[in-house]
Amino acid sequence: MTDRLTIRRPDDWHLHFRDGAVMRDVVPFTARQFGRAIVMPNLTPPVTSAALAAAYRDRIMAAVPAGLHFTPLMTCYLTDSTDPDDLARGAAEGVFTAAKLYPANATTNSAAGVSNIENLFPVLARMEAEDIVLCIHGEVTDHDIDVFDREKEFIERHLRSIVATFPKLRVVFEHITTGDAVDFVTAAGPQVAATITPQHLHINRNAMLVGGMQPHNYCLPVAKRETHRLALRAAATSGSPQFFLGTDSAPHLKRDKESACGCAGIFGAPFALESYLTVFDEEGALERFEGFASLHGPAFYRLPVNEDSVTLERAEVAVPPVLQVTGEDIVPFHAGTTLGWRLVG
Ligand code: NCD
Ligand code: ZN
Repeated sequence: MTDRLTIRRPDDWHLHFRDGAVMRDVVPFTARQFGRAIVMPNLTPPVTSAALAAAYRDRIMAAVPAGLHFTPLMTCYLTDSTDPDDLARGAAEGVFTAAKLYPANATTNSAAGVSNIENLFPVLARMEAEDIVLCIHGEVTDHDIDVFDREKEFIERHLRSIVATFPKLRVVFEHITTGDAVDFVTAAGPQVAATITPQHLHINRNAMLVGGMQPHNYCLPVAKRETHRLALRAAATSGSPQFFLGTDSAPHLKRDKESACGCAGIFGAPFALESYLTVFDEEGALERFEGFASLHGPAFYRLPVNEDSVTLERAEVAVPPVLQVTGEDIVPFHAGTTLGWRLVG
């Protein structure tokens, strides 16, 4: 039995750091594990310009603990009035690694998102020409569509046409939750990839709704039925370079989750590697973990792999029931349970 695994240092290709005091307290959880992270731009106000992204990057860098080498990769929040010249300039200057498409009101802080995706096509054409990666929150927001069907419907209504209209545009279908998304990505070819979160590999919708409402298992897109979770586990552990690690760690304070209108988002950053590796172990795919965690993402984004490595060993790790952020309680994913792998360093 393999009891120790050393891999190139992983990256997190989908992450929410927030800003200000919360950001300063959550950055160390990520920086202890990952070399880089794609930092999502859904702040209030959102990160819509290269100038805002450069300033945000500086604030994140200032929060990285001394002795750790961590690089935030910034994204541009696309809106109905995105300036393609600013986006292209920001990408050329290395400020932007990608741009993020949120359908308006799809999720936390997405009110300024894109109201009509077809209207964004001139911006997507420019992104294709400049070879800028497009990250997509793939859910429709139409009120007549059931929340459990919103990802599948997004594929049919929007994603097929985006990929067909811009065949060279590199697209990351973010935090996929369905077998339909796995099938779409696989069939689309190498210019399309997907991130997969730890929560969607570990839980199905029962974890949110059975035995009382479980707000700490609520995120968007919501976890789906078991068949979809199994399809995601198969995709993540398949060795396909089209699937890679993206935690979608989305910190919200405990009191904002345990509320009459609880926030969507699971704080997965603190034990992210331990969580993912548990899945690969259960699937008998330890040898494929490095690809998913450390190699497929850089290959897709055309960035070098990290030079250094991390080691994990088989050992029990107790995840605390709560952690502290800005002196307040926050509940991490797997709170109060034990994971079977430990990050040694
Ligand atoms: C994210 C957040 O809180 O910013 N929430 C979530 O449930 N995943 C936004 C997102 O990625 O949808
Ligand atoms: Zn997210």
